[in-house]
Amino acid sequence: MLLKDRYGRVAKDLRVSLTDRCNLRCTYCMPAEGMDWLPSPEVLTDDELLRLIRIAVEDLGVNKIRFTGGEPLLRRSLEDIISRTAALEGPDGQPEISLTTNALGLDKRAQALKDAGLQRVNVSLDTVDRESYARLTRRDRLPQVLEGLKAAKAAGLSPIKVNTVAMLDENLDQSADLLDFCLEHGYQLRFIEHMPLGPKHTWRLDQMAKASDILEILETKYFLTPVGQRGSAPAELWDVHPLGTTEQSAQNLEPLGQVGIIASVTRPFCGDCDRTRLTADGAIRSCLFSLSETSLRDAMRQGASDRELAELWSLTMWQKPAGHGINDPDFIQPERLMSEIGG
Ligand code: GTP
Ligand code: 5AD
Ligand code: SF4
Repeated sequence: MLLKDRYGRVAKDLRVSLTDRCNLRCTYCMPAEGMDWLPSPEVLTDDELLRLIRIAVEDLGVNKIRFTGGEPLLRRSLEDIISRTAALEGPDGQPEISLTTNALGLDKRAQALKDAGLQRVNVSLDTVDRESYARLTRRDRLPQVLEGLKAAKAAGLSPIKVNTVAMLDENLDQSADLLDFCLEHGYQLRFIEHMPLGPKHTWRLDQMAKASDILEILETKYFLTPVGQRGSAPAELWDVHPLGTTEQSAQNLEPLGQVGIIASVTRPFCGDCDRTRLTADGAIRSCLFSLSETSLRDAMRQGASDRELAELWSLTMWQKPAGHGINDPDFIQPERLMSEIGG
């Protein structure tokens, strides 16, 4: 059985949220006071979680697993969850395992995570200016994040991607500095268009930094050439060359690195989407923006068999919407915020 939908897409990439909690309070993601966290009995246990991941890999054709949160490093058993996931084998072999994290505490755990079977990490970092970081995340923790990034590199997690949500009045003017920083350290920087998934009234289409705004700034300092073949990945990529390079000379030069833009709003990629999502409390979301979801946890706790769980998952994915509809006049933001879905 595969996770197909009505529009011919097949989901092979599972994003698993391990907790809705976070140790930062990014303004675009959470209110300052935090949220009403999920009570522990509602969160999947490790055994429940691993059962669902096994069904996805062995029975439903999933071949990529990304752990997210909230902040997934807050789940103490993360190393164990990863090693149990790495031991699974599906029709496509062992799943690729990655993590999206704010990197707080990664300095102490990067090696153990790598040893457990983690292949790569994406680190959320919107600025390398300490004051901006403290204002944006409401916590003065930039030095620890930089330590986390270093440790990830030393442990051989590769590639390391840096996720930056672009914001007009916060960090857009720092775009080229961030790219300098990432090129210097060998991280792949991706700018993300802000999506309406944070606290209500924190997003407006006319106040959003667009892919075109980001490119315009980067091109004041670098020469960019598009890299084709994006497939189902959300990021469009560019090779980065020094200013003064021409189309022709770029063909024979090694780029300084790559930069990506995830333009969910102005250049939606929903037609190629290959994702399915599992929330920390065991619900399947067919799309980041789904207005309904299916609780596999409830079915599991009522005694459903593996086959029944796989069928329920597959049925939920069949109903996946064609796209997110952010640009439609009747767009409705889902009840769950970004931190409860995991991006
Ligand atoms: P890679 O496999 O490394 O390319 O990961 P990724 O970019 O898919 O995942 P990551 O967790 O780093 O997410 C980066 C940004 O892409 C976040 O803002 C996510 O919310 C967004 N994103 C990931 N998947 C989707 C998707 O299916 N649809 C939309 N609209 N955004 C997505
Ligand atoms: N729009 C786009 N990306 C977001 N992220 C968090 N909130 C939003 C939003 N509203 C990013 C985080 C993290 C990734 C999982 O999603 O920065 O890197
Ligand atoms: Fe936490 Fe990530 Fe939201 Fe920041 S973006 S508050 S790190 S969940």
